[in-house]
Amino acid sequence: MQNIRQALPQDIPYLYSICLRTAFAGLDGTPYFNDPWCVGHYYAAPYFFWEPDLCFVALDETGKPSGYITGTSNTASFTSWVQETWLPPLQEHYKQDKEFKSDAEESVVKILLKGPGQGIWQNLGYPAHLHINLLPNLQGKGLGRSLMETFFAAVLEKGATGIHLGVDGRNTRAYGFYERMGFKILEQQSWGCIFGKTLV
Ligand SMILES: CC(C)(COP(=O)(O)OP(=O)(O)OC[C@H]1O[C@@H](n2cnc3c(N)ncnc32)[C@H](O)[C@@H]1OP(=O)(O)O)[C@@H](O)C(=O)NCCC(=O)NCCS
Repeated sequence: MQNIRQALPQDIPYLYSICLRTAFAGLDGTPYFNDPWCVGHYYAAPYFFWEPDLCFVALDETGKPSGYITGTSNTASFTSWVQETWLPPLQEHYKQDKEFKSDAEESVVKILLKGPGQGIWQNLGYPAHLHINLLPNLQGKGLGRSLMETFFAAVLEKGATGIHLGVDGRNTRAYGFYERMGFKILEQQSWGCIFGKTLV
């Protein structure tokens, strides 16, 4: 059975679920969130709606989506669309939220209310960015590499020759994976670091 394919609208519930279940520095975020949707509203779903041709899912042995890679080839355009179109209805709703189950939930809701900033790396040769997450049953089987290689080819076809991404400093496993995939640290942050890779 084919184990990677382009995401479909029918996969959206799985994108939200996988996003939550890997939301705590790569580990299951379920115990830390009252609202199971806020993480996916920011880190998964908008990418599918903005650039569905850059969203791919990995399927388990029953054909159920259990991992994904998602992102954009043009962070500047994506950021403008997210700020102007995607976030406002969500901000109306989340601005009422005052009770959080954890610091992790409070910080995601704060990010959602503020929106993404205009980062520097998109203007310094890394216009694309991505998010990749696999549930534990699909990890360590080469699917992370396959999703990455699929994304690299798709993003290159759209004219982007560099990718950046952010990693939580507690997620040391992901650091090792990105380095193996050819990413280098571009910038240290208080919360982790920004990695980058050029594709040509
Ligand atoms: C991080 C993650 C995407 C990696 O995907 P994966 O399917 O487990 O990784 P793969 O099995 O495809 O490994 C690909 C390569 O990276 C290497 N690798 C993986 N993790 C590594 C590590 N911690 N250190 C060094 N190398 C590593 C593998 O040995 C493999 O090398 P090879 O292809 O040259 O033989 C996946 O484990 C995951 O989704 N984890 C939970 C969510 C998460 O942390 N997402 C990232 C958030 S920033």
